[in-house]
Amino acid sequence: MELKLALIGFGVVGRGFTDILIRKKEFLQRKYNLMVKYVGICDMKYGSIVNHSGLDPHKALEAVRAGNSLEKSFDGVKGLSPVEFIDASGADVVVEATWTNLDTGEPAITHIKKALSTGRHVITTNKGPIALAYRELSNLAKAKNVKLLFSGTVMSGTPSIRTLVRGLAGCYVSEIAGILNGTTNYILTKMEEGLSFNEALRDAQQKGYAEADPTMDVDALDPSAKIVILANIAFESDLKPKDVIREGIRNVTLENIKDALRRGKRVKLIARAWSDGKSVKVKVTPEEVDINSFFGQVKGTVNAVMFRTDSLGDVYLIGRGAGGEEAGQAILADLIELIL
Ligand SMILES: NC(=O)c1ccc[n+]([C@@H]2O[C@H](COP(=O)([O-])OP(=O)(O)OC[C@H]3O[C@@H](n4cnc5c(N)ncnc54)[C@H](OP(=O)(O)O)[C@@H]3O)[C@@H](O)[C@H]2O)c1
Repeated sequence: MELKLALIGFGVVGRGFTDILIRKKEFLQRKYNLMVKYVGICDMKYGSIVNHSGLDPHKALEAVRAGNSLEKSFDGVKGLSPVEFIDASGADVVVEATWTNLDTGEPAITHIKKALSTGRHVITTNKGPIALAYRELSNLAKAKNVKLLFSGTVMSGTPSIRTLVRGLAGCYVSEIAGILNGTTNYILTKMEEGLSFNEALRDAQQKGYAEADPTMDVDALDPSAKIVILANIAFESDLKPKDVIREGIRNVTLENIKDALRRGKRVKLIARAWSDGKSVKVKVTPEEVDINSFFGQVKGTVNAVMFRTDSLGDVYLIGRGAGGEEAGQAILADLIELIL
């Protein structure tokens, strides 16, 4: 089956996904009978191009990697805004991979609404729209009889959302706990080696794990959005990131870390959501966990989650939570779900 795909946002994730599609073209055709045709790519930096005959994804990657505009590299309809682009694309599925805005969810919410309301499936890795407008967007998708898939928004390609939605279908979930931010887990791991918070943060920035402005990670905004996404699926709630009791890791000192280690504990930034069947609570705070516990063994940039269920007890998942390849895999899994 051929899917016509329009991609908005050709950064780390958009390119990571494109790389996988090129590499796995034959495998996807053989195993899933899936053929993907790029009918448009829209990016703030590299321009916007629509061509219904198809764009060569390899050529698109080569162009942006050489710093060239997509508009100069391809024939087709050029210079459209994302909303005009969606209309003109004729795509079956729109992949939204622009930057995350946790204040308003924009402009991604506008992109997603436009795509859904014109009858297109949407796949996104962008936490903003899902943390802030999940109910509204999923209701719109249902009304339009299309799918909104967003498995890359939590733990990237490690299938936390798919485990919750599909794997644990029919289970009552009473609690979710997770290490959902690799940057802060890396900083805490480095602090165990004796680095101060500032030294560990600088190290994370040098390795490309932390942004120049690390607020989203160290002040726990990123894991707050992620736990809200999981909680709203598990508990049918309509929580927003502002409902999360939130404390980041800025105030965790080397002494806190050493003191915990002496007592057989590790400090971890744990995102937690739980429900008594009536109300739902969500928090992200530094917690001490036993060194030998599941979360105590999660080191570096790795992510992990635990779902507490009625029928299966505690179910655990651990894996990589960021990177272009990992988020690209999440988009690919969502794409395959569209045709299964
Ligand atoms: N990287 C990861 O490991 C990862 C993992 C899971 C989820 N995510 C999420 O996936 C999304 C993409 O992440 P990324 O790492 O690929 O970010 P990125 O490298 O910054 O790429 C985003 C791209 O989208 C473009 N863009 C921004 N606003 C746009 C708009 N209105 N219209 C068209 N293009 C626009 C950007 O252009 P400019 O550069 O000109 O702004 C950039 O090329 C984010 O929401 C992120 O939170 C990322």
